[in-house]
Amino acid sequence: MVDFRLLRVFNDGNLRDYAGVRTRIGRNCLPHFTGDSLADRVVRELAAERALPMKEVVEAFEFFAVTRKYLRVAPTIVDLCSGHGLAGILFGLYERGVERVVLCDKRKPDHYERVWRATTRVAPWLEDKVEYREGKLADVRDELPPDSGVLGVHACGVLSDQCLDIGATLGGPIAVMPCCRANARNSAPRGLRAALGEDVAYDVDRTYALEARGYNVRWREIPAAITPMNRVLIAVPRAQSART
Ligand SMILES: C[S@@+](CC[C@H](N)C(=O)[O-])C[C@H]1O[C@@H](n2cnc3c(N)ncnc32)[C@H](O)[C@@H]1O
Repeated sequence: MVDFRLLRVFNDGNLRDYAGVRTRIGRNCLPHFTGDSLADRVVRELAAERALPMKEVVEAFEFFAVTRKYLRVAPTIVDLCSGHGLAGILFGLYERGVERVVLCDKRKPDHYERVWRATTRVAPWLEDKVEYREGKLADVRDELPPDSGVLGVHACGVLSDQCLDIGATLGGPIAVMPCCRANARNSAPRGLRAALGEDVAYDVDRTYALEARGYNVRWREIPAAITPMNRVLIAVPRAQSART
């Protein structure tokens, strides 16, 4: 079983399932987040704003926890299909070396403003780092800085493949947690799909494609109590791999 790395309160067996709850957090979660850590302070402010479901909060924190070591070498982090943007924001909040965070989505969701108010109360330095760009991936991809670290958290189906392609074109580290594989357009051979299931076969295919583009690829997981779509592909350029 995979441990929670940042929101460790959920390692308590009685609370584990609470990590996947899809109702918005509010005052009732406060007794579990009473500390002075950045994580506890962010969760309290998100609860004050009733910004997101617990599942979205924990997913962003734990995705950040498993990927930060590989992505933070990039001065710019681009969170593609960012939705509420919390995963990208956490890079700007925790990592001093990350100078800029670009959140991209075809539509900025209404609850983004709540996430923004909550996180900037804890970390005012985000004001100088984070921008939100509205636009489809195809429209924003050519304006992104080279060597950016690219995130794609549950970018549905083929969008995960587009995130990987954009990341590899920019040449920096990449981390995706794919979902909705039924909508993916993937070249995994039929034999692999039959033997391994589409879920695994698609990620095997993605792994070979990234390796062919000069990356070393690791598979990691966030706890399945948050989401069953919990596999994280982390791709590090070979030149960087030697240093991490
Ligand atoms: C399942 S949500 C994931 C959002 C966020 N990353 C998260 O973890 O909650 C997928 C997001 O992709 C965005 N999206 C869909 N098609 C897109 C496109 N062509 N270009 C950019 N964003 C797109 C949607 O607006 C939505 O916010």
